Order: sequence, then structure tokens, then C-alpha cells
Amino acid sequence: MEVPVNRIFERRSINFFDPARELEDSLLKEIIDLAANAPSAFNLQPWDIIAVKSDEAKKKLHGLANQQPKILEAPVTLILSGDRSAYGDDNPQWSFMRENYGNDGAERAKGAASFLYGSTEERKIKFAESNTGLLAMSIMYAAKSLGVDSHPMSGIDFEGIKTQFGLEGEKEVVMLIALGYFDEEKVLHSSAPRRRFESLVKIA
Ligand SMILES: Cc1cc2nc3c(=O)[nH]c(=O)nc-3n(C[C@H](O)[C@H](O)[C@H](O)COP(=O)(O)O)c2cc1C
Repeated sequence: MEVPVNRIFERRSINFFDPARELEDSLLKEIIDLAANAPSAFNLQPWDIIAVKSDEAKKKLHGLANQQPKILEAPVTLILSGDRSAYGDDNPQWSFMRENYGNDGAERAKGAASFLYGSTEERKIKFAESNTGLLAMSIMYAAKSLGVDSHPMSGIDFEGIKTQFGLEGEKEVVMLIALGYFDEEKVLHSSAPRRRFESLVKIA
């Protein structure tokens, strides 16, 4: 069931997943490949994903996510991490830049990126979290466009998940996203009101 583009905004955090419905691996791949078109600073794509699918891994994650039941009920929960050091030399994006903009262009961009995203702890965190946040939204809309429901979570033990799921170095957990299908036997509370243009935009 494909959802037309404007209907992807009907996405909800569905809270109750049908534990009897699996998410096909091919569909998960399609969601991630679509979502990976998300923009990122200098196209550095400072993100990684762990797809938690096995009962054992789900139990471990459940314990590190305030026992939120959806972790056990959803067929897959993604751990999204952002790499606070992904502006470094070893990012393959710099080779792409060299090939397309020459050595000087790539070196200038690298210098700018390491200042903008690496010169303070606050900048490093902003770099990792803002970019990975865009990937997160892209995943939820990509999922909705393919008829798959989602639920983001940050009521979690970030450090515990980092350690127990083996995230190394400056890779930090940004959020979890459960993916699957709404349990039609449950009732979801109605969508909460949103601030709209008049309330949230100031014209300067
Ligand atoms: C970054 C982020 C973290 C969230 N963390 C949780 C969470 O840990 N548990 C939970 O039940 N809902 C969580 N939510 C879901 C929000 O409560 C939900 O998105 C919001 O109430 C709006 O509802 P809707 O997504 O259905 O439109 C989170 C949402 C976001 C964007």
C-alpha cells in the first residue's frame, strides 16, 4: 500500500505495534535506501543504524529503553547513532569531493568542516544530532510512504545502549525508531494540536 506524498504527513507515533506482523527485510532495505537521500552537512552522512530484530537483542534494548513495550512488540527497532567525528579525513565523502572539485576544493571544504563541526564539543554534538535527526525524519516518512508505521523514542539510556550495542569512539546514540504495523485492536489517542504558521514564524 503506497501512500501519496502529502499523506505521509499523516504519520503518527503509533505506540501499539501488531506483534504478529513481521517487516520484510526487503521492505526495511527499501525504507533505509529511500531515507538515505536525506541531506547532511557537506554530505558527510555522519550516521549509522543498528536494526534490532532478534528476541535477545530486543530484550536487551527494552531494558535500556525504560521497558517501553513497543520495543518488544515492533518487528524492528532502529538504533540511530551520529558520529561526532565524521568530518575527519577518513570520511569517503572527501574522496568524492577530490574527484569532483580537485584537491584544493576538497582541502578547503575539509578545513571549513573541521572548524564548523569539530572546534567545540557543542558543535560536534550539533553536527551529529542535527544531521542524524534529519535521517530519522526521512526514515519515518519513507516508512509511511511504503505503508509502514513508526515510533521515535529518546526516553532511553543513551550511554547504556552505546556500550551494550558496541558503538565505538565518538558514535553517540541519537534516538530509536520502532518500525512495523499498527495493532488494529488498539486505539491510538487523537493527534495532538500543532503550532502553525502564525504562532511559529516570525518574519524578519
Ligand atoms: C525525538 C523524539 C523522542 C521521542 N521519545 C519518545 C519516547 O521515548 N516514548 C514515547 O512514547 N514517545 C516518544 N516520542 C513520541 C512523541 O511523544 C510524539 O511524536 C508526539 O507526541 C507527537 O505525536 P505523533 O508523532 O503521533 O504526531 C518521541 C518523539 C520524538 C520526535
